[in-house]
Amino acid sequence: MKRKGIHKPTVEDAIEISGIEILHPGGYELTKRTAEFCELKEGMRILDVSSGRGTQAIYYAETFGVDVTGIDISDKMVETATKKTTERGLSEKVRFIKGDSQDLPFKDNTFDVVINECAVGIPDDSQKVLNEMLRVVKQNGAVAIHESVWKKPISGAKKEEISERYGTTPLELTKWVEMLEIAGAVNIISESEKWSEPEMFWNIRKDRKVKNHKSVMSIGEKLTTAFRVLKNYGFDGVKKVFENEKFFFQAVLSGVLGYALFKGVKQTDR
Ligand SMILES: C[S@@+](CC[C@H](N)C(=O)[O-])C[C@H]1O[C@@H](n2cnc3c(N)ncnc32)[C@H](O)[C@@H]1O
Repeated sequence: MKRKGIHKPTVEDAIEISGIEILHPGGYELTKRTAEFCELKEGMRILDVSSGRGTQAIYYAETFGVDVTGIDISDKMVETATKKTTERGLSEKVRFIKGDSQDLPFKDNTFDVVINECAVGIPDDSQKVLNEMLRVVKQNGAVAIHESVWKKPISGAKKEEISERYGTTPLELTKWVEMLEIAGAVNIISESEKWSEPEMFWNIRKDRKVKNHKSVMSIGEKLTTAFRVLKNYGFDGVKKVFENEKFFFQAVLSGVLGYALFKGVKQTDR
């Protein structure tokens, strides 16, 4: 859903600029559950759409012996993910390319499983992203998405403000299901309560348990992020990030904003 970009740099912009390795609520726990949901097995071909720093793609390949292609619109993300893959000696099994999730550069029915963790709501046309994911997955193959959802009824104006400040567009859980169906998915299942617990929004670090939303980043990481935001958006940008973050965590702590993990299967007769 197209946003106006009136509260940039958004929470999403700040997280991406920060350099931290996992860019979605739920951290590794969510990634592990996504793999279980999709029943990853050795030898499968996986597409990780909006692969970020490659953390999930590498985890899938190392843990399940699958072959992973990651695609992301950001040169910097692709570069970082490729570097990490090379360092871990995984270049034969994992690769990253630059591309737009709304127009995937792959033939129909190419992958056994297609995953998108936390990035269907970011581009202007989320329906196109889902259509593309379903197009490139093989018949009977699984598609999984992890997306932000509204957990309580709020006004349209509030929804718009949270979306603008967050930098992604949450929807009602039923709306995501409807869009997956339009894209051609059947047998859709979802989990939301666990992935909406406030702790999921901050306990995302690979190497340590994070106790509250104020300590997701170390002091050094906070300073680096503030410096990068300053360089890219100026002093007003730094102020805006703090304002957006406060607003965002109010939505999380009041139970308005949550997440859900969805899985569907490609219908065989399309
Ligand atoms: C919230 S991060 C998620 C990254 C990764 N899936 C993870 O969970 O760590 C969103 C990612 O989506 C990418 N992205 C945004 N718009 C995109 C688009 N239209 N096509 C492909 N990737 C996109 C960003 O560059 C960023 O890496």
